[in-house]
Amino acid sequence: MKEGSISDACEWVSHRSSGFRPKVGLILGSGLGLLAERIDNACRIPYAEIPGFPESRVPGHAGNFVLGYLSGTPVVAMQGRAHLYEGWSADKATFPLRCMHALGIHSLIVSNASGGINPRFHSGQVVLIDNHIDWMNRSGVNASEGASGAASMGVPHRAGNPYDAGLLNLAEQLAIRQGFALARGTYLATLGPNYETRAEYRLFAKLGADMVGMSTVPEVLLANQLGLKVLAFSIVTNVATPDVQKVTDHQEVLDWSRKAQSQLVPLIESILKDPI
Ligand code: HPA
Repeated sequence: MKEGSISDACEWVSHRSSGFRPKVGLILGSGLGLLAERIDNACRIPYAEIPGFPESRVPGHAGNFVLGYLSGTPVVAMQGRAHLYEGWSADKATFPLRCMHALGIHSLIVSNASGGINPRFHSGQVVLIDNHIDWMNRSGVNASEGASGAASMGVPHRAGNPYDAGLLNLAEQLAIRQGFALARGTYLATLGPNYETRAEYRLFAKLGADMVGMSTVPEVLLANQLGLKVLAFSIVTNVATPDVQKVTDHQEVLDWSRKAQSQLVPLIESILKDPI
């Protein structure tokens, strides 16, 4: 990883993309990289080339910053993300989001893969995240701290309603037009990297979680501090069965999230057709 400040990263990306100004940021999680392949006039920059960017080492996460047009909207997409379980601090893992913000985005669409805790969910189902539980306990960063936004012991931040009500409604309406109903759910984020024991799945159900995963909350908290509108989707890749002995594996997670792309990709494209 190269060192660098937000302005170094932003300058490098602007230089490589001939001054492209995205309006919407996309963070594409496990298996969802296909959407980045659909970006028109794409300028694709590997994270390794951008000063200060953390590189994801997780299989299924490509590691490119992709700028161009999706449904006519200027976007910047992260094809793969860095996770806290890889050893990155929340500050470092969210560095690319700060860069997107510096480039000019006003809204952020996030996707992830998750384990379904709610027994009504099934593998391959796309769920709208309308609330979250921060079980990472170290996802907070301070947007106002210095050029890199280094985590600090500063003032507490508001996290009352991180997901934009208007975008949640829009996504639901457009999904119905596409022929399916989107459920809403509460996403609980753990630090990982381990999937849950059956006892943990049972505990998280009692805490009110519908899905569990290892990402998203650090980005969403920072996006809120930066004043961005946030919409987040979770692809349920495995449904927890606390009473049956069954092991969750990464290949199953990738396979199901790839299958769900046939619903989620057209949905995100239709969302971007509206001026969000
Ligand atoms: N737990 C945590 N993260 C996940 C899971 C899970 O069961 N499935 C996909 N990501």
